[in-house]
Amino acid sequence: MGTAFITGAGVRVGSAVARALGRAGYDLALHANRSVSSLESLADELRALGRDVTLYGADLSDPEAVDALGAKVRQAHPALDVVVHNAGLYERVDFAAITREQYRKMLGVNVDAPFFLTQALLPSLRAGKDPVVVHLTDIGGERAVNHYAHYSVSKAGLVMLTRALAVELAPHVRVNAISPGVVAFPEHFDEAARQAELQRVPMGREGSVEDVARTVLFLAREAPYLTGQVIALDGGRSAQL
Ligand SMILES: NC(=O)c1ccc[n+]([C@@H]2O[C@H](COP(=O)([O-])OP(=O)(O)OC[C@H]3O[C@@H](n4cnc5c(N)ncnc54)[C@H](OP(=O)(O)O)[C@@H]3O)[C@@H](O)[C@H]2O)c1
Repeated sequence: MGTAFITGAGVRVGSAVARALGRAGYDLALHANRSVSSLESLADELRALGRDVTLYGADLSDPEAVDALGAKVRQAHPALDVVVHNAGLYERVDFAAITREQYRKMLGVNVDAPFFLTQALLPSLRAGKDPVVVHLTDIGGERAVNHYAHYSVSKAGLVMLTRALAVELAPHVRVNAISPGVVAFPEHFDEAARQAELQRVPMGREGSVEDVARTVLFLAREAPYLTGQVIALDGGRSAQL
């Protein structure tokens, strides 16, 4: 089937994507930073299905760690068919209070890491079969979300990276983004905050991490002419004023 590399694969969206690709037959290169034990359990589950699974650790806010990760993954996997940049930082901070350190870390994890990892992995992607890079953006990368300025700027950068790389890496490597609304609420959201979000969703409910996984599988297996696109996975939220 091929090999897929997924960042932030230990929890939530990333683990659902890894599980779906593993069940579909892909061998896996999986990254985590802090969620090492849940990543190891997932790897055991997927190895039991006969998949080859290699695990990597790196703090993606550290440029040297990003470069080391890219070099290791490229060396271990000379051909990659799917690369999913799922790892992401998310934090609410008033604009007036955002420090340079918070800003740099946000952009480091959410934009710089995908940028330089894809650059490092280009030889492996070019050796892949109909390879696709998938960015996890956010509908908040195309419309402003109050009190999330540095997060929104980072996701807007990732949206443009999707389009820039789709143009530059064509025809062989496709680059697309999945832009969720709510597929898994942040754990700290209380019931009132959840209901306030859902009121703005035409479909009236949150999506699921499996919705993201299905969309990644679609991009990997069934969309050979689809590149440079940002797919809003948001129950219709971004379609309305
Ligand atoms: N959940 C949603 O509804 C939603 C909505 C819009 C966009 N998204 C996007 O979808 C992606 C996944 O969302 P999620 O809700 O599953 O994320 P999450 O629960 O907040 O988990 C964050 C992921 O990013 C990794 N990560 C964070 N900081 C890192 C660092 N410094 N170095 C390396 N890895 C780091 C974490 O790895 P460790 O745990 O191993 O440290 C974890 O896998 C994110 O890019 C997010 O912005 C999600």
